[in-house]
Amino acid sequence: MELNGKSNGKAHNKQLILNAFVMNTPGHLSPGLWKHPRNHTEQYKKLGFWTDLAQLLDKAGFHAMFIADTLGPYDVYKGPHNFEPGLAAGAQFPVNDPLYLVPAMAAVTKSLIFGVTASTTYDKPYALARRFSTVDHLSDGRVAWNIVTSYLESAARNHGLETQIEHDFRYVLAHEYMDVLYKLWESSWRDDAVVADRKAGTYATAGRVRNIEHKGKYFTVPGAHICEPSPQRTPLLFQAGTSGAGRSFGAKHAEAIFVGGQTPEKVRASVDSIRQLARDEFGRDPYHVKIIAGISLIVAETDEAAQEKQQDLLKYGDREGALTLFGGWTGVDLAQYTDDEDFQFSDKPGIRSVVNRWAETVPGTENLKWNKGRIVDFLLLGGMMPKIVGGPQKIADELERWAEVADVDGFNLSHITNPGSFEDIIEFVIPELRKRGLFRTKVPEGITAREQVFGQPGLLSDHYGSKFRWAAGEDAPRYLADDLEPAPKRRKVNGN
Ligand SMILES: Cc1cc2nc3c(=O)[nH]c(=O)nc-3n(C[C@H](O)[C@H](O)[C@H](O)COP(=O)(O)O)c2cc1C
Repeated sequence: MELNGKSNGKAHNKQLILNAFVMNTPGHLSPGLWKHPRNHTEQYKKLGFWTDLAQLLDKAGFHAMFIADTLGPYDVYKGPHNFEPGLAAGAQFPVNDPLYLVPAMAAVTKSLIFGVTASTTYDKPYALARRFSTVDHLSDGRVAWNIVTSYLESAARNHGLETQIEHDFRYVLAHEYMDVLYKLWESSWRDDAVVADRKAGTYATAGRVRNIEHKGKYFTVPGAHICEPSPQRTPLLFQAGTSGAGRSFGAKHAEAIFVGGQTPEKVRASVDSIRQLARDEFGRDPYHVKIIAGISLIVAETDEAAQEKQQDLLKYGDREGALTLFGGWTGVDLAQYTDDEDFQFSDKPGIRSVVNRWAETVPGTENLKWNKGRIVDFLLLGGMMPKIVGGPQKIADELERWAEVADVDGFNLSHITNPGSFEDIIEFVIPELRKRGLFRTKVPEGITAREQVFGQPGLLSDHYGSKFRWAAGEDAPRYLADDLEPAPKRRKVNGN
């Protein structure tokens, strides 16, 4: 596909975005590895663990720390409602709230962006708007929101529902949710509402703050945003959705989208589809959606040393933890199957399609049987992420190939040990990427997340949410009753 003048192949003379993918839990994507000597995630409750990690990443030039989150335990395996098999591995349970980490990490770093996951299904929009504005203020605009609609039955049950809201309907709700947020973040306070004029005794100016009067199909929020505009107003928006509804949501709202997939050739199809949707359905420059692929690296000074490292890491894997994560992600309880069952031929279409995707694409597994043991082997290090094992040259070659073939803008790098994996990436991968001109050498300091990625603190003019902005010297945008979008015309006002 030809998009915006950029063709297949070398769309990527640009520099890569590198994020560290973490979670506020002992066992994110590598169950059991918390025991490894180079891992300290059992310290996740200590601020010092997070401030050290943030400084390590910041100094190395990483763009963001991306913090995943879930809102209930993984309790499908050996279930129903059984979280015990995952306890030994700390498999994403226990898990603390990610947002509280940000102000402390922001205080000791200069550039790192903090991408925090929060759910449109379980958080109320008025409260979420306030939490993110608060942290955007305290981090001088370095917060991003990873918008998720959530996927766990346990989260639904513990938030007062009998079962999850139907998948596509979660996205219908999420669209209106975003309208509420743009109104609060962009439209409730005029840019120059806060004057903090000591002499006049005026903190904020009457007439420049308004109630949003949102009365939609699913949400009613009549009042004004309770926070004054933060440096970015709307935090930089991340999202990861692979379904049709998820992709369409991302193409409209997201400024960065996380994609999964085992090979760059397969991922390319998703990337093209997202960029095309952004352009054709939502009138955006398709490259105003940064696409970030999830990936897991095992790296050492040579290819052989990296293979040895992989064998060492595998010794720490917790197989019950892997089956627990699989149960949570897919809803399938593998305890119900024998060890021999080859899931490529399963009568359960859900699991058959997941496993066949892996069987077709996971390198080196072409002639192997995809039974329970193989699934566990695959998931132990880095979960479902594609894995690259090698020395600096091989890793850099592969990342370069991914960027070109898949047309992605960067990578969400998961860890196997933390901080071990990131230390290795900093020692072996980043210097090689820099040598090739693929990673930034100068890291801008003291600017917002959006300025780092798009050159300005506010939403770009082709982003849907930008139309909600109440700019200095203008009338507040009005909303059309039928679809909640702001009316296109705005009148310049004189005076205040
Ligand atoms: C790299 C990546 C990170 C994700 N992080 C989270 C997360 O932290 N919390 C969450 O609830 N879902 C997370 N997801 C899941 C997505 O939000 C989404 O539910 C999933 O990709 C399925 O997409 P769909 O809902 O459009 O089917 C992540 C997905 C990817 C690919």
